[in-house]
Amino acid sequence: METVTLIGEMQSRAEELRRRGTTIGVVPTMGYLHDGHLSLVAQARKETDVVVTTLFVNPTQFGPGEDFERYPRDTERDKRLASQAGTDILFMPAADEMYPAGFKTYVFTEGLSTVLEGAFRPSHFRGVTTVVMKLFHIVKPHVAVFGQKDAQQAAIISRMVKDMNLDIRLIIAPIVRESDGLAMSSRNVYLSPEERKNAVALFRSLRFAEDAVRKGERAVETIRRGMEEILWNARVSAVDYIAFVRPETFEEVEKIDPPNILVALAVRFGKTRLIDNIVIPVS
Ligand code: PAJ
Repeated sequence: METVTLIGEMQSRAEELRRRGTTIGVVPTMGYLHDGHLSLVAQARKETDVVVTTLFVNPTQFGPGEDFERYPRDTERDKRLASQAGTDILFMPAADEMYPAGFKTYVFTEGLSTVLEGAFRPSHFRGVTTVVMKLFHIVKPHVAVFGQKDAQQAAIISRMVKDMNLDIRLIIAPIVRESDGLAMSSRNVYLSPEERKNAVALFRSLRFAEDAVRKGERAVETIRRGMEEILWNARVSAVDYIAFVRPETFEEVEKIDPPNILVALAVRFGKTRLIDNIVIPVS
């Protein structure tokens, strides 16, 4: 595996690969890699000749008072894991080359970016779409792989790719979970041992919803109440939202109807904010 840090060098490498007819897959990450990230690398490996994993803790997607400074970082470990998983090029740009003095241009997807996560983290998705658009222009991928773990992010990037006619095939890969069901996340390291145990309640509440729908329950409020009870019993300090939405548009639904529904939630344990979701087929 090679490590590239300069934007210009990554662009000329990508250009050269394209000229030779080599296909490029990209997996954007903020590092502190876990098996969820590595599953995306494995997926890209299957789809393209060359896999570029990007590692950049993107300052523009963190709000004031969020965890940008303390976001976990371990570059040496990330290099080892990215390489073992089949990365060919690790692209690690410097913040001052990505956002030099005078930077003024942002990419913003309306509507989708202002609900749910976007309501709790204003400007978060503007930072995400901006950095992802930049990474696409730098890495010039044929295929890009993102995780369903961040379902709203995936929906927004899909919308951006369509709206901006980007010639990139998106793959959204399934959520990788710990053995007890907790979705893997770089932020799980913030949890105390007790919070870590209680955090299984996120997945448990999503499975409760799935079960209720399978048994024929169609009332959103009834399911939401059951989920809240599971979460509060696990001593969360806040339930930011439990939302029942259409998977592509993130429009909230009043009643559960076919063909499917996405249940997304965000909760807090102290200062640590965790998100999770499930897509439930509805017949
Ligand atoms: P990060 O949180 O590092 O996640 C990088 C990619 O890994 C995202 O596509 C995310 O959905 C996926 N991912 C995270 N946990 C996962 C899990 N348990 N199972 C499957 N996939 C998982 O998301 C970001 O970084 C940033 O917003 C980024 C897109 C890199 C832009 O800065």
